[in-house]
Amino acid sequence: MKINSRLKKIGDLVEANSFCLDVGCDHAFLDIYLVTRNKDIKAVASDIAEGPLEQAKKNIKRERLEDKIETRLGPGLTTYSKEINTIIISGMGGRNIIGICKDSSKVLKQVDTMIISPNNYQEDVKRYLTKNGFYIENEEFVKDKKFIYQIIIFKKGKKKYTKKDYFFGPVFLIKKGPLFREYYERELKSREILLALLPKGYRLKKYQIKQEIKMIKNEIED
Ligand SMILES: C[S@@+](CC[C@H](N)C(=O)[O-])C[C@H]1O[C@@H](n2cnc3c(N)ncnc32)[C@H](O)[C@@H]1O
Repeated sequence: MKINSRLKKIGDLVEANSFCLDVGCDHAFLDIYLVTRNKDIKAVASDIAEGPLEQAKKNIKRERLEDKIETRLGPGLTTYSKEINTIIISGMGGRNIIGICKDSSKVLKQVDTMIISPNNYQEDVKRYLTKNGFYIENEEFVKDKKFIYQIIIFKKGKKKYTKKDYFFGPVFLIKKGPLFREYYERELKSREILLALLPKGYRLKKYQIKQEIKMIKNEIED
């Protein structure tokens, strides 16, 4: 089975002996990769929709992994059960992810690790989870085709973060590297385009964008 580099990177970040709940598993490619890579990882593949879950079941059966991956139908974290210690949510919008967490705040108290890869609103996800019992242990970028994705590993605990930490990612700020540069060069470009397109008025928005442009330039220009 072929897996894309985004899902492979997420899978490689999962620790041995994890019992994972993959929320929004779709085809369950990630779960298949996880349990094949490490015999000590177990997974529950769950999805809100029947179609994707049926496809997941077919893929799991084809790989003969029914004893390693359970499938569960249901929204968000309603498919959680107490043996699970790691929640993975990837390939969804950040606001959907925050909604899923808000709907099941009790579940957040029971897990040690959240591996989250939002398609957007990454900063909001970081703010939400660090205000609800987690700190950011690691952050990784992964490039898949022309897109660059963030993967954030949250662990149970508390740390203080500055505005700049939330904006760039506290671990990204320390690690930096070529994908950090490429990611924020794109963020810079999109803000410069937006600034040029914004009509007269919008003074506050323009001010915010200019401040962000300044912050990005400070970090990526030598
Ligand atoms: C774009 S796919 C992402 C699949 C996979 N996680 C990945 O990263 O490639 C999004 C999947 O999430 C499911 N989904 C969306 N909202 C959900 C929710 N609230 N609870 C569970 N699954 C959800 C969709 O049905 C779909 O199968």
